[in-house]
Amino acid sequence: MESGRTGPFERVLLVGFMGSGKTSVGRALSRLLGWPFRDFDEEIEAETGRTIPEIFRGRGESHFRRLEARIGRRLLDHERVVLASGGGWAVAPGRLDAVPEGTLTVWLRVSAEEAVRRVRSEGPERPLLDTEDPVARARELLAEREPSYQNADFVLDSESASPDGLARTILKHIRVHDAEEGVSHAKNG
Ligand code: S3P
Repeated sequence: MESGRTGPFERVLLVGFMGSGKTSVGRALSRLLGWPFRDFDEEIEAETGRTIPEIFRGRGESHFRRLEARIGRRLLDHERVVLASGGGWAVAPGRLDAVPEGTLTVWLRVSAEEAVRRVRSEGPERPLLDTEDPVARARELLAEREPSYQNADFVLDSESASPDGLARTILKHIRVHDAEEGVSHAKNG
């Protein structure tokens, strides 16, 4: 998929469902690019001094979404950075169309079954999947959200390779794009 944007990429924004590997791929890509990594959820937790489940429990999902929108806007102002959004960020109408120029948006695709398997192994961190039948809930949420995730520039099946392999694929995409734009890179070739 081609982004159609002009100029070099200044940041990468990873989107996709819970358990799609946004954080692990983001960290791997950050090492390859030599750009810092910032995670929307981690920034929200650092700023509020509360965990995501505490925010959902104490103030509700709509409060969390407002924090997420504000912190997302702030992080998207940064340049030469790899960003991982939370799984619901890209779902607000028009969000992926409104990212700043120079942003490569990447959707990491995952099945409901694999998402729940991965999230379970990480512990009780995802309030939206804290239900009796998390796979059924993940299927419903994915059906609602996939049309939004599809607005990303580039899609990768997160089950097809390791986080390092996925990061290398994104790096190649950036290199090809930037070579077409005549950009040279000091780091990693
Ligand atoms: C959410 C995903 C979570 C976190 C919150 C809500 C969602 O982030 O932002 O629990 O709506 O899908 P991850 O995608 O990093 O798990």
